[in-house]
Amino acid sequence: MRCNGINKKKVIIIGSGLAALTVAERLCQHCHVIILTKSNKDHSNSIKAQGGIAASVSQTDHWKIHYQDTMMAGCFYNNQMAVNVLVEKGPLYINKLMEQGLEFDRDRNGDLLLGKEGAHQKRRILHAGGDATGKVVMNFMKKQIDGKVTIIEHEVVLDLVIENNTCIGVITSNSHEQLTTYYADHIVLATGGCGGLYQVTSNDPSVVGDGLAMAYRAGASLSDLEFIQFHPTMLYLNNRNYGLVSEAVRGEGAILVNDVGKLVMKDTHPLKDLAPRDVVARAIQTEMTNGKTVFLDISMIENFSMKFPTISSLCEQANIDVDTGLIPVAPGAHFLMGGVVTNQVGETTVDGLYAIGEVACTGVHGANRLASNSLLEGIVFSNLLADQILLTPTDVSVYRKTNAMDKKTYTPVGPLPNLAEIQEVMQIHVGIERTKQGLLDAKSWIEQYDFRSYRDALINNYTPIQIRTVNMLTTCWLIITSALKRTESRGAHYRNDYPLINDHEWRNKQIIRKRLETE
Ligand code: SIN
Repeated sequence: MRCNGINKKKVIIIGSGLAALTVAERLCQHCHVIILTKSNKDHSNSIKAQGGIAASVSQTDHWKIHYQDTMMAGCFYNNQMAVNVLVEKGPLYINKLMEQGLEFDRDRNGDLLLGKEGAHQKRRILHAGGDATGKVVMNFMKKQIDGKVTIIEHEVVLDLVIENNTCIGVITSNSHEQLTTYYADHIVLATGGCGGLYQVTSNDPSVVGDGLAMAYRAGASLSDLEFIQFHPTMLYLNNRNYGLVSEAVRGEGAILVNDVGKLVMKDTHPLKDLAPRDVVARAIQTEMTNGKTVFLDISMIENFSMKFPTISSLCEQANIDVDTGLIPVAPGAHFLMGGVVTNQVGETTVDGLYAIGEVACTGVHGANRLASNSLLEGIVFSNLLADQILLTPTDVSVYRKTNAMDKKTYTPVGPLPNLAEIQEVMQIHVGIERTKQGLLDAKSWIEQYDFRSYRDALINNYTPIQIRTVNMLTTCWLIITSALKRTESRGAHYRNDYPLINDHEWRNKQIIRKRLETE
């Protein structure tokens, strides 16, 4: 049954990245859609995406080859059904967007210009505005929903409202710390990953894993949280991170060298500079640990500034002249492969609660996401979720009007750390290389804080700012304890004390986290 007339279904989407806008665009004709975003709609990881969107759209490619590459990068830990859906349906949804008017870069003959990135056998990365793909795609999507969706900015969701294992609403705080409860038929988490919990990251600073913490408190299952991808190349100079240098730069021939001219990837992997990201990131990290500086040598790329205007502008900010041919780089937290467990239509284990994009875990990325599969994930699975919501029968909408909650008298809670302290612990102990001792140290550090309050106790006793910190601590704790449990190295999860992949014990074993009501 379609949602129409006065009983239009009410859908709340938390987050404003590509996954959020895709589902909003599909639903806005039929449902009352509200997007809640803690910053403004121009802040998201999607808008920062440079490389592009992977899809087997060329005559010389096939979705089955894209499937192989996705599985290989994911260390064969991926959910095969989800990978099938992604790579087979991907080109259909991309073509639909192009029919709607989204323009990707083309050559003089009007043929799509397809980029190459690490671990792809084919050129299949669609891009727009050179390296400004995220901006172009997001501007296009914003136009599609303009005036059709209610977008509430600067309103942070602190917790989900759950009744009988059903999500019926969200509790938010605005910039004046006023609490509001919104109720709806369907609540969609599109809050992204957790890169902002690290000191060095490609992510927007607002992306700190709060959706994961809220889903956990709501009793949803989460999985694979130990798999955090570090992108090998942030522009990094004098201990300052200026942002991402797309893998597409290495796809065009750039090579990683250290300050004495050593080719960093020469003997490390057969694919050299286009090896999977975990391998490249660890190689750079090793150089840095040995006191070396690592650079991307871009001297062989003609018309660099024209091909990569976003990166050139980052270089300008860092006072780096791209004509010198060398960009200093370091790895940064980039993408969470795990998340809130969903099926292929975005349903979580809690009724009424859905997850799409990076916060979701369909298992599609396995232990390590293939480059440029994330925007594709956002497009494909959000479309499937929209279909699902449109098909879900509801006789009468359960929407209730928004209530401003009374101002609380807070019972003071103990001190909580600030973001910089959390980032330091995560960077040192839960980064590219982990050890049991480091993870245990991080765990005890977190556990000194009171972050386990539940539902009413949380809302009643903590200030909105404290709840945001509690959400970050909860997510960190889940990542750390999951990383402790996985006693092997696979894809993005690397443990110095268990440096090998252990297929026998771990290939088919997911670490599922689920909070019980009684905890
Ligand atoms: C990049 O452009 O290197 C990032 C794209 C991605 O993470 O898929």
